[in-house]
Amino acid sequence: RQVAFVFLGTGTMVVCFKHAGITDSIRDMLKMSVRPPASWSAHARSTRPESPERPLPLFRRPDSKNTTTLLLSDDGFTLFVGAQDAVLSLDVSQPDVITMKTKMDWKPPPDVLHKCTTKGKKETTDCPNFVRVLQPINATHLYACGTFAYNPHDTYMYNDAKGCCPFNPYHRNTAISVDGELFTATTNDFLGKTPMVSRHLSKDGRPDVSQDTSVTLNEPTFVSSASDTSEGKVYFFFSEFGNEYSFLDEFKVARVAQVCKDDIGGERILQKRWTSFAKAELLCRPPKELPFNIIQDVFTLTPSEGYSTQDIIFYGIFTSQWSVASGQSAVCAFRLGDIKDVFAGNYKIFQNHQWSPRMDKSSNLGKCGLDNASDTTLMAVKESFLASGSVRPIGNAPVLNSPDQRYSRIAALRTKAANGQDYTILFLLSESGFLHKAVLLNKDTHIIEEIQVFRQTQLVKNILLSTSKGVLYVGTSEGVTQVPVSQCSSYKSCAQCVLARDPLCGWDPASGHCASVSAIPANARQDVEHGNVMKECQGSLTAKPLPVEVYAQLNEVVRLKCSRSSNLATLSWKSAKASVLPHHLFFHSRDENLVFMATPDTFGIYHCISVERGYEETAAIYTVRQSVSPRVIDTPAVQIRITTTETKDQMTTMMEIPKDMTPDPQSSSEKPEDIVNHKEPLTAKNYHSELVAVSFLLAVCVCVLVLGGLYGWHLQGRYKLGPSDTAEGGYKEENDPLEVSPPSIKAE
Ligand SMILES: *[C@@H]1O[C@H](CO)[C@@H](O)[C@H](O)[C@H]1NC(C)=O
Ligand SMILES: *[C@@H]1O[C@H](CO)[C@@H](O)[C@H](O)[C@H]1NC(C)=O
Ligand SMILES: *[C@@H]1O[C@H](CO)[C@@H](O)[C@H](O)[C@H]1NC(C)=O
Repeated sequence: RQVAFVFLGTGTMVVCFKHAGITDSIRDMLKMSVRPPASWSAHARSTRPESPERPLPLFRRPDSKNTTTLLLSDDGFTLFVGAQDAVLSLDVSQPDVITMKTKMDWKPPPDVLHKCTTKGKKETTDCPNFVRVLQPINATHLYACGTFAYNPHDTYMYNDAKGCCPFNPYHRNTAISVDGELFTATTNDFLGKTPMVSRHLSKDGRPDVSQDTSVTLNEPTFVSSASDTSEGKVYFFFSEFGNEYSFLDEFKVARVAQVCKDDIGGERILQKRWTSFAKAELLCRPPKELPFNIIQDVFTLTPSEGYSTQDIIFYGIFTSQWSVASGQSAVCAFRLGDIKDVFAGNYKIFQNHQWSPRMDKSSNLGKCGLDNASDTTLMAVKESFLASGSVRPIGNAPVLNSPDQRYSRIAALRTKAANGQDYTILFLLSESGFLHKAVLLNKDTHIIEEIQVFRQTQLVKNILLSTSKGVLYVGTSEGVTQVPVSQCSSYKSCAQCVLARDPLCGWDPASGHCASVSAIPANARQDVEHGNVMKECQGSLTAKPLPVEVYAQLNEVVRLKCSRSSNLATLSWKSAKASVLPHHLFFHSRDENLVFMATPDTFGIYHCISVERGYEETAAIYTVRQSVSPRVIDTPAVQIRITTTETKDQMTTMMEIPKDMTPDPQSSSEKPEDIVNHKEPLTAKNYHSELVAVSFLLAVCVCVLVLGGLYGWHLQGRYKLGPSDTAEGGYKEENDPLEVSPPSIKAE
């Protein structure tokens, strides 16, 4: 650890990818893609912008705000939503529409609101009741807790719901119900300084249990919780200031904490307090890099049938405390078995405001069933609740490192690919409003696509995955939207279907469609690891597109458009002409369009070639022909006689035009015919006249300078030329070439 901090202090950033040694046996055991460090180039293969033609189902009502606490009923037909001053139940039984069933208003009464505002809180943003916990309690009842004007309330059990949800609606909290009992972690006072991990609604007459106040948590932010029913433990995930690093101020650490679900507290010591509370550090750090030390969200992925709960995997999103990495995030995966090992190991002892290794090995620390333990044992629990070991991620490094996305919420599912191998798919909600869908491969992570879920940046949001329905619900402060986990039919060819490398999608040669693998298990064509189109798509290769005819007049700028089906494809243009003509005649604009001047030499056939993963596909073919225009001779043309260098300059200018010229850059429906034969020559004229204007201004400047100089001369008595003569001369000299050029055109 010392070594680690020497490194931290220097603040060096070394990007290094090392194959972390994860044994094959573990990989076999998990039967899933556990993989070594990710690459930094984590870019989505395809981008699906929010489109009015194919809108995502959205529930949105002006009177239902902050719809961010989500719970799906067991039958999957009803989505309960904790909102501002209300609990809603939404009908989500239809695949493409979300409707409201009922709305239960739950507003603080005027006197409570008044009390809240008198304490200095804002009536419209702080004092409403933000519903923050929704948990199923039994077959007929839900448990709900809301901030209730800085005076937490719940709907059923108590009048006073302190300890279940925060006072401050901007504080995060987590809750999980296990066998009808509710486990919560939240801040629990007006100022939000006192954290609390507790059990409520305890059954069989046993007391509710909470945390010993001497157990210091240092300004924790709780993000998630999970239960392990086999061992009767509940886990909480959070970040807090790590005071074991006493030599580093305000250093945050990501943590996992455990409590035993049946803990009832000690007899004399730790009455109604956890005897099983323990916490440990979670490490998420790329090799030789600063750690990602702030945990944002955790998703618990339970293993496939037949595997032990040791193989429960927690996928966590981490961000960094340091500004050098402020726009980045990482995903680390932790095995429950590894967390258990750390809690079963050695502990530190907190004495004199400092943590040090505990010398005697108390075998009871972190164990369940200490309710009747001796006072000595419970004293040890009181001062030793921090595990010495840290929990390392699977593969000892992040499974995904995003250099440019701050992910905030995560969900994961495991699925069987067409070849029978299990794959994990991650859904990552980014702060920019996109949902990234990534598959963990054996050696890499591939971002299959990014889907724009909302346009404006919305900080308050949540996601809920229903694997059985194949749907993700995204709750934001504005509404609830629904995103299918896959949209295989959007891949129109076998090549696109295979190149997507989506374990959920395969090409069905029988029907000629890209379809859900579960619908066509026998013959789905798919290659998740390599995306080998030649192997999978034999006989189903896409026919070349039909050539598009483009007509252009001589010296007109021709722009040929080629749109990419994948962000990972490289586009190039091929033409017999291009290879014999000087290269500077052709330009790729930034959007990969081909731009050139129509001359007798450049008329001909052009192919746009897209290459992805070694698979080459013709994306577009154009035949550029000369158009007959009888009026061209009579036109008092401005541009025409242009030397090669001038052409280049002019065309470079043209290339920067499209943003202003193309009315709608997104419209891919723009026909190639529209692209050519539009007002390019006109634009050229405009530029020409601007050139004249600029030259004129330059001439004026030169005149002023010359005049100034002459005036100086004049003062010195060396009078030779009249100032007016000079002005005329200067003007003429500067202007001549431009004035003269139109006649030269006419001459031609
Ligand atoms: C569910 O819990 C509520 C609240 O404790 C209780 O009133 C109700 O009877 C319970 N229902 C069942 C079916 O156990
Ligand atoms: C603790 O001791 C009491 C009395 O000695 C006993 O009734 C109870 O069952 C014990 N509890 C546990 C968890 O062993
Ligand atoms: C509620 O939603 C509004 C936007 O509609 C947002 O500005 C605000 O931060 C949200 N409040 C909470 C407590 O989530």
